[in-house]
Amino acid sequence: MSGSKRDEEGEPDWYEAGLAHVWLPYAQMKTARPPLAVARTHGARIVLADGRELIDGIASWWTACHGYNHPHIRDAVERQLKSMPHVMLGGLVHEQALTLATRLAACLPGDLERVFFSESGSVAVEVAMKMAVQFWLNRGVRSRKKFVAFTGGYHGDTTGAMAVCDPQAGMHAAFRDLLPEHHVVPLPRDEASAAAFARLLERHADELAGIIVEPLVQGAGGMRFHDAAVLQRLRAAADRYELLLIFDEIFTGFGRTGSLFACQAAGVVPDIITLSKALTGGTLPLAATIARRKVSDAFWSDDPLHALMHGPTYTGNALACAAANASLDLFEREPRLAQAAAIAAALERGLAPCRGLPRVKDVRVKGAIGVVELDRIDDLDGLRARFVEQGVFIRPFGSVVYLTPALTIGEEELARLTRAIVNVVSRM
Ligand SMILES: Cc1ncc(COP(=O)(O)O)c(C=O)c1O
Repeated sequence: MSGSKRDEEGEPDWYEAGLAHVWLPYAQMKTARPPLAVARTHGARIVLADGRELIDGIASWWTACHGYNHPHIRDAVERQLKSMPHVMLGGLVHEQALTLATRLAACLPGDLERVFFSESGSVAVEVAMKMAVQFWLNRGVRSRKKFVAFTGGYHGDTTGAMAVCDPQAGMHAAFRDLLPEHHVVPLPRDEASAAAFARLLERHADELAGIIVEPLVQGAGGMRFHDAAVLQRLRAAADRYELLLIFDEIFTGFGRTGSLFACQAAGVVPDIITLSKALTGGTLPLAATIARRKVSDAFWSDDPLHALMHGPTYTGNALACAAANASLDLFEREPRLAQAAAIAAALERGLAPCRGLPRVKDVRVKGAIGVVELDRIDDLDGLRARFVEQGVFIRPFGSVVYLTPALTIGEEELARLTRAIVNVVSRM
C-alpha cells in the first residue's frame, strides 16, 4: 500500500500497532481472527493492503448502494469541504441540510415531512422513541411510554434501541433483565399471532406510546421477510388504539427491498420513519427521523417544555448532508430500482442450487437481498475465511449467509458472489 511500510508478515506498519488499541465491533477480541487490512475500495470491490481484491457482497452493512467511491458523491463532498464542513444547527442552518430535509419529505409518502438529523441509526431510533413518548407527554398523558416491538427485530445498540430488539434471539441477550421493559411479541402474520397481538393491545394500550417494526425485512435479527399484509394490520391496530406507528427503514430504505422505501411497497404510511445507512450512499455517517404532521404538531406550542430536547453535536453535518443530496441525485438520475429488480432475478437464479443442499433450511430473496439460511453455523469465523479464499467478502451471522451488494454491482461480479456461496455451502 502506498505510503505504508510493511512488517515481516507483509502487513502495513499501522496494523499491529493499531490493533493493540482499537476495540472492534461485535468481536470477541481475544479469539476473533485478525481483521483484513483494507487499502482502498472502488465499485463493488475491496482492495486489501496485501494487494488482493475481493468482490464485496455486503456493501459495508448495506450502506454503499451506488458502489464505493462514486464520483458524483465524492465531488459533492469535496465541494462542500472547501466551503464549510460543518456548523452546528443550534441557531444556524445551511443549504445542504435544508435541501435534504425538503427532498426527503418530497420522496416519502403522505405527510412524513418534518426531518430530524442525527449521525447513526441507533440514535435515529432513540429519537423516534423519544418523539413518540413526548407526543403523549405534550398532550398531558404520562402513562403511554412503552412500545410494542417484534421477535426477530433489531433496532440498534444504544440503550433505548436495545430494549426494542429481540430480547432472546437478539445479540443483546446478556442485557435482557437490565433494559427498560417493552412488549416484544411475534409479528401478526397469521390468525393465531394476530389474535395474540390484538389481545395484547386490548390489555395494554393505555401504557403504549407506539409500535416499532422493520417493514418487510427484519435484517440484523436474521434476514426474515414478511409481507405487506402484516404492515397493513399494524397500521389498522395503531389507528384503532391511537398508537404511533414507527417504521425503522434503516435497512430497507433506499431501494434495498426493490422500492425506494418498503412503506411504499406496503402501501402504509407510518407516523415516524427512521433512515440511515444508504442515506449518504455509504460515505458519511448520517441518520434521519422523519415525522408526520400530526406528530410534529404535538410539539408546536408556546410552551418551551413541549420542544424536542435532542440535539446531537453533529446534527445536520454539512458534509454528510451534501453526500446524501448527491446520493438522492443518483436515485433520480440512474436506474437504481431497475438494478435492484435485476439483482433480485440474478440472486434467485444464482442461489437456487443451494436449495436442497443438506445443511440448507431456506433460500429466500427480496429485492437486492439474498439469503441462504442454514440449520446452524458452528464456526462463523472459519466460514467467513473460506469466502475470502474464494475472492469475495461475505459475512454470515447467526445461521444465515446473505448478500446485500451495491445496487450497481456488475452481473459477473454478482455471479461470482452467488457461485462462492454455492461452492462453500455445498462443501459444508
Ligand atoms: C433496522 C436497523 N435499525 C437500526 C440500526 C442501527 O443503526 P446503526 O448501526 O447506524 O446505529 C440498524 C443497523 O444495522 C438496522 O439494521
